[in-house]
Amino acid sequence: MTHPVTVYPTDADFAAKSRYRREDYERLYAESVADPDAFWGGVAKRLDWFKAPTKIKNVSFDLADFRIHWYEDGELNASVNCLDRHLAERGDKTALLFEHDDPNLPAEHISYRELHARVCRLANALRNLGVKKGDRITIYLPMIPEAVVAMLACARVGAIHSVVFGGFAPNSIADRVADCASKLVITADEGLRGSKKIPLKANVDAALKLPGTNSVETVLVVRHTGAAVDMQMPRDRWYDAVVEGQPETCEPERMNAEDPLFILYTSGSTGKPKGVLHTTGGYLVYASFTHEAVFDLREDDIYWCTADVGWVTGHSYIVYGPLANGATALVFEGVPNYPDVSRFWNVIDKHKVSVFYTAPTAIRALMRDGDEPVKKTSRASLRLLGTVGEPINPEAWRWYYEVVGDSRCPIVDTWWQTETGGILITPLAGAIDLKPGSASKPFFGVQPALVDANGGELEGEAEGNLVLKDSWPGQMRTVYGDHPRFIETYFKTYPGSYFTGDGCRRDADGYYWITGRVDDVINVSGHRIGTAEVESALVSHPKVAEAAVVGFPHDLKGQGIYAYVTLIAGEAQNDDLRKELVAWVRKEIGPIATPDHLQWAPGLPKTRSGKIMRRILRKIAENAPDQLGDTSTLADPSVVESLVNERLGK
Ligand code: WTA
Repeated sequence: MTHPVTVYPTDADFAAKSRYRREDYERLYAESVADPDAFWGGVAKRLDWFKAPTKIKNVSFDLADFRIHWYEDGELNASVNCLDRHLAERGDKTALLFEHDDPNLPAEHISYRELHARVCRLANALRNLGVKKGDRITIYLPMIPEAVVAMLACARVGAIHSVVFGGFAPNSIADRVADCASKLVITADEGLRGSKKIPLKANVDAALKLPGTNSVETVLVVRHTGAAVDMQMPRDRWYDAVVEGQPETCEPERMNAEDPLFILYTSGSTGKPKGVLHTTGGYLVYASFTHEAVFDLREDDIYWCTADVGWVTGHSYIVYGPLANGATALVFEGVPNYPDVSRFWNVIDKHKVSVFYTAPTAIRALMRDGDEPVKKTSRASLRLLGTVGEPINPEAWRWYYEVVGDSRCPIVDTWWQTETGGILITPLAGAIDLKPGSASKPFFGVQPALVDANGGELEGEAEGNLVLKDSWPGQMRTVYGDHPRFIETYFKTYPGSYFTGDGCRRDADGYYWITGRVDDVINVSGHRIGTAEVESALVSHPKVAEAAVVGFPHDLKGQGIYAYVTLIAGEAQNDDLRKELVAWVRKEIGPIATPDHLQWAPGLPKTRSGKIMRRILRKIAENAPDQLGDTSTLADPSVVESLVNERLGK
C-alpha cells in the first residue's frame, strides 16, 4: 500500500472561479461539525418551505435512546422545490435534456414549465386513481423523461416511490412490490439499451402473477417503443390516456420534513434486499446542497450523470439534486458503446456538456478501446468530471483525467451509499488537491472514523473499517417495515456509530482511500449484489444442494461473481448444467447478477459448527491458494484441496 502517489494540486484557473477555495473548506468544515444546528439550519434556507423548520437536528445513535430527525417541524413538498419555485425565473430553462438510445432521433428539451405541467398532469391522474399520501408506488421504467415525471408526481401527492432498476427480473420486481405493498406500478411497453429491447411490461405481468403482489390495483403503461403488449383490463391503463385532459396545475401535498419521500431497495450481507427509506426535508437539503457544492454548479452548466434512475445516484444526482437547484440535467437512455464507443463523447459535444459524472467501470471499459475514439471528439465544453460507485484504480483515474478531460478538468471521486442519500467523502474541486484513487476528504458535517475489529478508533495514518460518528441530513431513517433490521445492520457493530460496511485507509494527509466492502456484498460494475441473494437463487434450482458465492477481482467490473455449487447426489456436473445454472440466476434476479464463474464443489469448506469459510473461498476464487491461511479449524480440510485443484485445473 505504499505505492508513490502523484498529487494533482488544485488548478489555479479553476480555483479562481470555484465556489470553494482551500481556506473555505477548512473553515466551513470546522463550523459544520462545531455547530451542526447553525450550519444545517443555514443550509436549509436553500429550499422553499411551507413552514420553515425551527428544530434542526435531533439525533442520537445511542441504542437506548435512538432517533434520527432533521428539520422535524418543517413542512415542504419536494416537487414544489424541484419545479414550481423555478417557474418565475427559469420557466423556459431546460430542466431535462433527453438523449434517446438511437442517436438519430432528435434530443428533447423539456423546460421547467413543461416538466411542471407534465408532473401535475400525472399527479392529478394518480389522485383520480385513488392514490393518497403515504401510498407506495413502484416505478419500473427505462431512462426516459417519464421516469423523472413519475418520481416527482409521486412526491407531489405524497406517495412514496420505489424505483426498481429496469435490469431486474420478475422475481426481483415481485419481492420489491410485495415488501412495500405497492398500490400502483408505472412501467413502459419496452426499454431500449443499445438497440436491445427489454420487455418491461411483460416482466411486470410475470411479477404480478407471483404471490404477495395483489396489493397492486393499477399498472400504468408508457407507450415507448410502440411494441404490442398485453393489456389486462381493468388493471392496466395507458399512461397517455390517463394523463390526457388533466389540468396542468396540481395542489401539492404538505409534507412534514420527516415524511417518507422514497424507498430504494439495496443489497446487504444477509437476506433479501432491504428497503432503504429516505425522508423529505433532510434528504432534499442534502442532495441539493451536495450537488451544488461538489459539482461546483453554475447557472449555465449542462450537467450529465450517466447513472440509471433505478439507483440512488440517479435519485440524488439526476432528479432531486439537480432539479432542486434549477440545473439542466441530461437524461440518457442508451449505453456507452452504442452505436460505437465514442457515444459518451459525442453526446458531450452535441449538448455541450460541462459537468460529467460516471462510474469507474464505464471508464475502464472505454479505456480498453484506446484513446482514438475519445481524441476524435472535442470535449471542449467539459470543465469538471466525477466518478461514483466503486474505487477507481489510479490508472483509470489518470486516463479519465488526461485523455477525457485533456488534463484540464478536476475529477471528483465521490464516495457514498444508497443509505447516505448523498455524497459524504469527496474532493471539492478548487479547494482540495486531488490524489488518483482517493475520495479524499469528508464533506461538510461528515465525521468519518476508522475502527479496528474491536471497535477501537484508529488515529492518524491507519486502515480499518469506516464508520460515521454523527448524522447528516441525508441519512436513511429506517429499513421500510423493519426498524430492528436497520438498527441491527448499521448501529450494533460499532455502538454509537453508523457502520458503512466499507474498509478504508487514511493517509498522512488525512485523505480517505476506500478499499471496498468488508461484508458479504459484492460490488459488480458499481452495482451492489448480496452473496446471499445469488446463493438463494442457486439453491432454488432443483438440482442444487448447496451454494456459496464470493466476489473476486475483475479487470472491468471491479468485482465479479464467483459461485461454488454442490449438486444433489446423483446429478452429473457438466457444462450444460453449468450454463443452465448461470441462466437460472439471470432469470431469477436479473442480468446484473450473472455469475462470472461457476465451480463445482463436491463439498464446501465449513467450520465444525457448519459455517462456510468464505475467506477461504475468496482466496481460491482469486487464484491465490498460497494465501489460504489457517485451515485447521475446518471440519474436513481435504475439501479445500479438491477445490484448489479444480480451480488450478482451469
Ligand atoms: C462503493 C452508490 C469507492 C462502496 C452511490 C459503497 C465506492 C457502495 C465509491 C455503495 C467511491 C461508492 N469509491 N467505493 N467513490 N462510491 N462506493 O449503495 O463500497 O449502490 O459502500 O451507492 O459502493 O453502493 P450504492
